[in-house]
Amino acid sequence: MQTYSIALIPGDGIGRDVTAAAWSVLEKVSSDAGFALKGTEFPWSCKFYKETGAMMPADGIETLRGFDAILLGAVGWPAEVPDSVSLHGLLLPIRKAFVQYANIRPHRLLPGVQGPLKAEAFDILCIRENTEGEYSGAGGRVHQGTADEVAVETSIFTRKGVERILRFGFEQARARRGKLASITKSNAQKYSMVFWDEVTKELSSEYPDVTVTSYHIDAMAARMVMAPESLDVVVASNLFGDILTDLGAAIQGGLGFAASANINPDRSAPSMFEPVHGSAPDIAHLGIANPMATIWSAAMMLDHLGEKDAAVRIMAALEQTTARGIGTVPGKDKTDVITAAVLAALS
Ligand code: NAD
Ligand code: IPM
Ligand code: MN
Repeated sequence: MQTYSIALIPGDGIGRDVTAAAWSVLEKVSSDAGFALKGTEFPWSCKFYKETGAMMPADGIETLRGFDAILLGAVGWPAEVPDSVSLHGLLLPIRKAFVQYANIRPHRLLPGVQGPLKAEAFDILCIRENTEGEYSGAGGRVHQGTADEVAVETSIFTRKGVERILRFGFEQARARRGKLASITKSNAQKYSMVFWDEVTKELSSEYPDVTVTSYHIDAMAARMVMAPESLDVVVASNLFGDILTDLGAAIQGGLGFAASANINPDRSAPSMFEPVHGSAPDIAHLGIANPMATIWSAAMMLDHLGEKDAAVRIMAALEQTTARGIGTVPGKDKTDVITAAVLAALS
């Protein structure tokens, strides 16, 4: 029997609840479909940091390298560990070390979910650059704590990095409705974003079947609210993609629905699957986190592993659940009730 080894990193806060929910769904579909998932759980989190002084062991990346995929809940507990420590100690190094340069985030309404917009029929695929740009980590502070203090945070855009994410966007658009929106702020940022626009233009001649339009990030934020149905694939830098995908989550009914896949397209290292949302400290002990974003991410994981039928089954079960009105209103149904309904839809 085909067996996939999965590294499970529940992380902090609601990360634990939503990964447990997704794992129960994965166990159900795998046993039905005749493949096996061997899960190995890692306790890496802010709690782990407080106990050991590190978010993961020094050989954490090497440990993860041997897995077929990683399923992660959420990282961060800012009341006890600064985000700049926790995220740079676990989540961001995994994305970089495993060259998971394509962060895929789908935004559409599941049936029965009432989003905040009038538009219902939108289907947007955000492709976020995931390894460089504004998240390069390059910079520093001088004259700290004085009136002359200066903080510098340098964005790094390489030709290799920009070209590969744009190419990924063009390919996705080609496989969908043939429309690509490329996002910059080249009216204000005259080096990196002008460069991004130039590479977009260069590549467009290789994809005559794709209609590519460049938008400024501010205009795109408005368009996602005013005319989301006009969009197909949206490709953006690390920070712009981060912001647009919380906006995408909002228009699809909330962060509890927004899934995400951190893909290494070359398959030279494992890819990682996680919801868009964080550890949600405000609801962490209430048992009301919506697990659908993580269950959807788990479906993306199976699709990536080649188990396409099982992935389709999970999406159908999610859709049946929301169509019955379960999990559609944030906070109304408990995590366990939503998970049980998804499992029942799979029976
Ligand atoms: P958040 O995404 O955790 O929460 C934002 C809001 O959305 C909160 O009101 C929360 O209750 C709600 N929410 C989030 N997920 C939900 C779900 N599944 N069901 C119902 N409601 C949900 O963002 P934040 O509060 O800015 O961040 C909290 C911590 O998580 C911080 O440490 C942050 O850095 C971290 N974070 C981690 C990730 C990640 O691991 N990928 C992503 C985002 C934020
Ligand atoms: C996300 C998160 C992370 C990001 C944070 C927690 C570093 O917001 O996955 O969207 O900005 O990438
Ligand atoms: Mn984010």
